Amino acid sequence: MTRETSTPEGVRTLAPMRSSALIAPSILAADFAHLGDEIDRVASVVDLLHIDVMDGHFVPNISLGPPVIASVRKQTDLFLDCHCMITDPLRYVDAIREAGADGMTAHIEAVPDPIPFLDSALDVGLEPGLVINPPTPVEAVVPYLDRCSKVVVMSVHPGFGGQAFLPESIRKIAELREIIDSGGLRTDIEVDGGVDLQTAKPARDAGADILVAGTAVFGAVDPPTTVGDMRTKLESSERP
Ligand code: DX5
Ligand code: ZN
Repeated sequence: MTRETSTPEGVRTLAPMRSSALIAPSILAADFAHLGDEIDRVASVVDLLHIDVMDGHFVPNISLGPPVIASVRKQTDLFLDCHCMITDPLRYVDAIREAGADGMTAHIEAVPDPIPFLDSALDVGLEPGLVINPPTPVEAVVPYLDRCSKVVVMSVHPGFGGQAFLPESIRKIAELREIIDSGGLRTDIEVDGGVDLQTAKPARDAGADILVAGTAVFGAVDPPTTVGDMRTKLESSERP
C-alpha cells in the first residue's frame, strides 16, 4: 500500500476512511500446492495479500512462516500483510521483514504492552498494526492507534478460515471508525474473517477500509470475477 504522509515519528499514515475499500485475499484459503498460480490469478484485481501466520500456541492451528512468505515475495509485488497469530510477535519481527513482508500485525491479547512490537516493526520498515479478537473490546487498542498503520477487527475467532462472520463485529468497526475520525487519526480499519459477498458491504458501511476475504475469494470457482462482484456490491446503494 502506498503511504501518503509521514509523521515526525516516522509512522507512515493514510487518509481517514479510504474512498474505496481495499480487498485483501487471505492465502490461507488458497491451494498451497499451487500457491504461485493462485496468487497470479488474482494479483491484478486485488489491493494487497493477507498472510496468516499461526504458531499452534496462540491459536490451535499451524499455518506458515517466513520461508513461505519469502516464496510469495518472489512471486508478486503486491503489499504483503502478515497477520501474526503468534504468542511472541516481537521475536519474529526481523524474520518477517527479512522474508519480504511489508506489514505485520499482532494481537493485543498476545502483547498487552504492544509498544515494543510496534516500534520494532516500524524500525525495520514494516507497517505495524494491532488485532483484536471477538471478545476483546476496542478500548484495548485505542491508546496505541496513533502508532498503528492499521487496526484489525477479527470477525471470526482466529485460527481457521471458512467460519461465519460474527455480526457483532459491525459495532466494533463502527466504534473504531468514530474514534479514529474524531481523533483525526489516519489508522486504517481492517476486518478479517467471514467476509464474503453478503458481509463485505455491511462491514464497509460501518467504516472498514480493508476487507480480508479468504474462502470467498480462493474458494470461488472464478476468484477474479468474485473480487469484481464484491467491488460491485461495495459500490451499490442496495442493502445486502
Ligand atoms: C482466521 C484468519 C483469516 C482467515 C480468513 O484466523 O485470520 O484471515 O483466513 O478466511 P475466511 O475469509 O475464510 O474467513
Ligand atoms: Zn487473518
